[in-house]
Amino acid sequence: MSELKHIPVLINEAVQGLAIRENGVYVDATVGFGGYTELITGQLTSGKLIGIDADRQALNLVEQRLTSQIAEGKVILKHSNFRFIEQVLAELRVISVDGIVADLGLSSMELDDVSRGFSFKEEAPLDMRFDTSSDGLTAEEIVNTYSQDDLTKLFRDLGDEPFSGRIARIIVESRKKQAIKTTTELVNLILSIVPGKFAKKSIHPATRVFQALRMEVNDEIGALNALLASSLNLLNPSGRLAIVSFHSGEDRIVKNVFREWKAQGFVNILTKKPITPSEIELGANPRSRSAKLRIIEKI
Ligand SMILES: C[S@@+](CC[C@H](N)C(=O)[O-])C[C@H]1O[C@@H](n2cnc3c(N)ncnc32)[C@H](O)[C@@H]1O
Repeated sequence: MSELKHIPVLINEAVQGLAIRENGVYVDATVGFGGYTELITGQLTSGKLIGIDADRQALNLVEQRLTSQIAEGKVILKHSNFRFIEQVLAELRVISVDGIVADLGLSSMELDDVSRGFSFKEEAPLDMRFDTSSDGLTAEEIVNTYSQDDLTKLFRDLGDEPFSGRIARIIVESRKKQAIKTTTELVNLILSIVPGKFAKKSIHPATRVFQALRMEVNDEIGALNALLASSLNLLNPSGRLAIVSFHSGEDRIVKNVFREWKAQGFVNILTKKPITPSEIELGANPRSRSAKLRIIEKI
């Protein structure tokens, strides 16, 4: 576990976009490896940062790294889903904040931790929960219980998978004989139906199905919608919200919600077009390739 780490994506752009005030109150809704948290905290004097992550293991590592900031009360870490941001802040008696940042999706730590089942490269149980302490849905349950139609829709809508129907069919046929339990079993089923010319493309044929399953397991679209709805209420005037997304559907949601807020006169949009990684960042961190950052300021 200890070698696992995560290179933050668009970190300078996202944190600069918050226009941090040294005495302000900020929320990092996706602490992960703590890159954003640490950069924001370094700019605070009397201000504080509330950091949220659904993944207890991620928070444990950041707790070890930021002991002095936590002892000073400058950083408060909370194990929760960011969909509950209002409750988390209410428990801390925080009623409004100066900035909220969310860097969506999964961290490289989670992807590289074989036991979590996020990666199609290693054999592992089909889990994919960010919060392993929850008794929520797992990828194994989805693969073995969703109807063929629901699997097709899932792979198509959340994965943009061109072979969604065929993959759903082979899953349903296979599970009649035996439950599908591991990442490798699922990868082999996908490989068995994807035509050779697609299998040779630069992205692995299982990429889209794994992404769709992860997003469904963690209800990532639902959580994003809840975070957006709460954020507008929580921000002080001149407070900022910065969201980094890695999925076209998520970016579309952020874009449309920001436009609605602007039309209603609640916010200014600070990114007419989304900010994307520089050539240098793309070269150094290929994982940043689909990242898009959008920022608003509350009026
Ligand atoms: C891309 S990483 C964040 C990396 C972080 N910005 C850094 O600098 O290290 C995303 C993190 O958000 C967490 N996460 C994703 N969805 C979440 C949700 N709905 N609620 C809370 N945490 C979530 C994941 O567990 C993961 O640790």
